Amino acid sequence: MIRKFDYLVIGSGVAGMSFALQVADSRHKVALLCKTTIDEANTAKAQGGVAAVTDRVKDNFEKHIKDTMIAGDYISDPKAVEQVVKKAPEGIQRLVDWGVRFDCKEDGSYDLHREGGHSEFRILHHADDSGFEIQRGLIEAVRQHPDIKVFENHFAVEIITQHHLGIEVTRRTPDIECYGAYVLDPDTGKVDTFLSKVTLLATGGIGAIYKTTTNPDIATGDGIAMAYRAKATVQDMEFVQFHPTALFHPGETHPAYLITEAMRGYGGILRLPNGEEFMQKYDKRLSLAPRDIVARAIDKEMKMHGLDHVCLDVTHKDAEQTKMHFPNIYNKCLSIGIDITKDYIPVCPSAHYLCGGIKVDLNAQTSIKRLYAVGECSCTGLHGGNRLASNSLIEAVVYADAAARHVMQNADGYTFNTKIPEWNDDGTMTNEEKVLIAQDMREVEQIMSNYVGIVRSDLRLHRAWQRLDLLYEETEELFKRVKATKDICELRNAINVAYLVTRQAIERKESRGLHYTLDYPKHAYDFK
Ligand code: FAD
Ligand code: SIN
Repeated sequence: MIRKFDYLVIGSGVAGMSFALQVADSRHKVALLCKTTIDEANTAKAQGGVAAVTDRVKDNFEKHIKDTMIAGDYISDPKAVEQVVKKAPEGIQRLVDWGVRFDCKEDGSYDLHREGGHSEFRILHHADDSGFEIQRGLIEAVRQHPDIKVFENHFAVEIITQHHLGIEVTRRTPDIECYGAYVLDPDTGKVDTFLSKVTLLATGGIGAIYKTTTNPDIATGDGIAMAYRAKATVQDMEFVQFHPTALFHPGETHPAYLITEAMRGYGGILRLPNGEEFMQKYDKRLSLAPRDIVARAIDKEMKMHGLDHVCLDVTHKDAEQTKMHFPNIYNKCLSIGIDITKDYIPVCPSAHYLCGGIKVDLNAQTSIKRLYAVGECSCTGLHGGNRLASNSLIEAVVYADAAARHVMQNADGYTFNTKIPEWNDDGTMTNEEKVLIAQDMREVEQIMSNYVGIVRSDLRLHRAWQRLDLLYEETEELFKRVKATKDICELRNAINVAYLVTRQAIERKESRGLHYTLDYPKHAYDFK
């Protein structure tokens, strides 16, 4: 089946929905795709909130810019940083206009939290479920919009370029163009052709390629893998952020429940299970140091003492305040027998966020014409070597706006490419060997966690590369022989992005930001 939409948006998180809401109007029809249900996205899991300078008395743009540059280990793109920080307040207003609610104080001003690496209180939030509230507000706005058609459980398999017209496309080909995407419809089992004037990738991150992650299972890096196969530029993949404090609860690792950094901003203290504090050994900002430092410190303490977790302590804080600020965390912990007002919370680091991705310019344009990328799958340069907490939701909102403005100026000059052939799966068969795919996915998770995790070395990275290479060959071979399914496509994408993380980690001959390697140590102490 062939479908035509002016704008094809792949992804229903904050990035995809913000963009869709801005470009849809009576003259322009939007298709919004998500591979499971509309609410399953990293966005819905966000806890801490959204960073923006809204209190102009104590805070200012320069401070937010400086904090972002420091966290990014000074390799963030200053233009991207300035764009996001300065446009953040407008972005917040757009979210509010779409129906998203943030907590306010009695005087009507926003109730602001503080998180690691922020020099001021500037995190807007909705209790401790900010992402759920953003997702809820945007879903309602999208559902009410007559010009946005939502396709749930529709899996984008490949983006379409000249390659699908039989023209050779390499990384040196100038003017590669995107004409839409091939999309798997689970009801029919068929791959449909979605033609578009402009395509937006908003497919989120890659946490699911690690054994323990705060990300839901959708985070297999599909957009990045599709863009890379279509020869788009992908960069900074070595910068994978591990959140220092996921709840340690064996059996719940995919996703692992997050204990928000706002809890450390609130006064939470990291301790060993015996009560001893340890952050003083690593950074003078103690528990509120940027999360790469905290994650490495925890990793080191766990290895040194043979522990499977450390602890976060808020027992010294007022119990009623704790319950009021963190109602969901309180209830979640209580459900597994931990009363956070009396007991330490067991925590350990967990794969959380990808700073790199599909390289885009200030308008969110990729290196492929008519293809834009926004949100966690994109690399704007904002995060550099390490993302400052709560800078990603706002990055998505600001870049969705930049992309929307840019496409609205250009899209009417584009036409649908009706020569695109339909997906051809002649000669393929139904894959009966699901066990192979499940096993290979576990292997990817093991390889990435053991060799391409918080602390790396040349030896570990090269070992990962070799193992991934084998999996790549086997999976590509299988993909040619069988009908496309969500499982095999996700495995293929996971291997692709795992390979990109590993290769770009090998190429970076220094420890910087989130990329810490024993072969090029940076700090006086050593995180082996
Ligand atoms: P997502 O919200 O992940 O959405 C991805 C969408 O793409 C989904 O709809 C999915 O179905 C779709 N998709 C993917 N592949 C395909 C495919 N092949 N075909 C069709 N659809 C596809 N950031 C902050 O700024 N503040 C926070 O407090 C914060 N807390 C966080 C807490 C947790 C536990 C996690 C996991 C992340 C947190 N983050 C936070 C990061 C932030 O939530 C994400 O970076 C952001 O939500 C990403 O939004 P997105 O729209 O790019 O992607
Ligand atoms: C958190 O709430 O700690 C997560 C914030 C973020 O990832 O930006």
